[in-house]
Amino acid sequence: MDQSSTPLFSLLDKFAMKHSTSFHVPGHKNGEIFLEFASSYFQQVLKLDVTELPGLDDLHAPTGAIQEAEQLAADFFKSNHTFFLVGGSTAGNLAMIMACVQSGDKVIVQRNSHKSIMHGLELSGAKPIFIAPEFDKEVGRFTSPSYETVVSAVQKHSDAKAVILTYPDYFGRTYDIKRMIESIHHYHIPVLVDEAHGVHFSLGDPFPTSSLQLGADIVVQSAHKTAPAMTQSSYLHINSAFNLKDKVAYYLQMLQSSSPSYPLMASLDIARSYLATRTDKDIEKIISSVFKVREILGRCEGLDVLPLTGKDDMLKITLHVKPSYSVQQIILGLEEFHIYPELTTDRQLLLIHGLAPFEHFIPLEKAVKRINERLKKDIIHATIDISKLFPEPISELALTYQQMNELTYTNVALDRGLGNIAAESIIPYPPGIPLILKGEKITKTQAMTVNHLLKQGVTIQQRTKGIKIYNKG
Ligand SMILES: Cc1ncc(COP(=O)(O)O)c(C=O)c1O
Repeated sequence: MDQSSTPLFSLLDKFAMKHSTSFHVPGHKNGEIFLEFASSYFQQVLKLDVTELPGLDDLHAPTGAIQEAEQLAADFFKSNHTFFLVGGSTAGNLAMIMACVQSGDKVIVQRNSHKSIMHGLELSGAKPIFIAPEFDKEVGRFTSPSYETVVSAVQKHSDAKAVILTYPDYFGRTYDIKRMIESIHHYHIPVLVDEAHGVHFSLGDPFPTSSLQLGADIVVQSAHKTAPAMTQSSYLHINSAFNLKDKVAYYLQMLQSSSPSYPLMASLDIARSYLATRTDKDIEKIISSVFKVREILGRCEGLDVLPLTGKDDMLKITLHVKPSYSVQQIILGLEEFHIYPELTTDRQLLLIHGLAPFEHFIPLEKAVKRINERLKKDIIHATIDISKLFPEPISELALTYQQMNELTYTNVALDRGLGNIAAESIIPYPPGIPLILKGEKITKTQAMTVNHLLKQGVTIQQRTKGIKIYNKG
């Protein structure tokens, strides 16, 4: 197939040229009605923001340009079928779970999954069996579950309807998922993978291999995270001996808008073509740019640039702030030059390099120089031991989702909630992985970690302070 073609974008381009008359939604009428001060930004995109007019196809029952664009994506990503998503990987994760599990079904899930996976479990009413990730001392964080934990969970719960894994983790670390998938498949259980951070893995070496090529049944990728697609644009790929396509399609049309955005869909068409047309030379240039960025950051006296291993995605650059300096000093130095990282934790920063050579070396060098000039030794920052956050390799919630629905709850200060069952999740954002999960008994380590993160200024997604706990009986 001709991967340089972009059938959906080209169709919209042609349609825009017609300067048609709109007696239909959306209300901006091809961009003619809009507030003037904003229109210079929106004008061009609004011309593509059409609706399901004759000939423009329909995401929920594609037979024309959308179908062709999805087929090109399936060809490039090597899937049996690829769905375009306009609700982000969030929609894909929800749909893949709903397609595989029903109320009361067991499902084996990595405990450090994104909240969209946890929400999928709750919506389906399934019974999650959590598998704990390993704590990697070298990088100071939880990564993936061990092979032994996965296999022992599947042996113990061979009636599970799916296993849900995240690959790579937020920081780009991968693991031997192929071996896990092969063992899980022995039990005739489908493997669903949240690969939100791995859309560019399809480029091949030197990037890690996509789980889609390693036997996963369903793989969800955020095109907008590392490929040049608009926010909310994602792919859901299916490569499975299980019959999952129709069910996934059914839930996607239920969970996503009945008026999916054409600019988002066109950006998925463009992102796939962008990936598919990268040459070896392009990739070389990207990698050499990554090393230059790493070298400049390495000049910052307050930082250690985490070395890359064969398991890491090169686009992700993890910085450890040295113990005698504060994260805040580094962030302020970067922000002075309008440089913003993807994520900041209490001791780390995560930067994502794009899929093209970096173009802002001068501000980056200036920022590093400024940080070095101003760097002051702070008090040694208190760190806490989070390695016992997930003490049991295999665990379950204290209540089923059905039981939770029957209960009332009270809002209390976090420390007062210790030993009670959480009626809401506590989620630092980013990365969006619940520290305390709705339905879990709140432990001392969890409360201590949340309090520590709050003190360090980490954002927790919450509408009210404290935590909701279930009232007993
Ligand atoms: C691991 C993981 N899965 C899923 C998502 C949700 O992706 P999206 O923003 O495309 O809905 C995220 C978002 O940060 C993520 O980090």
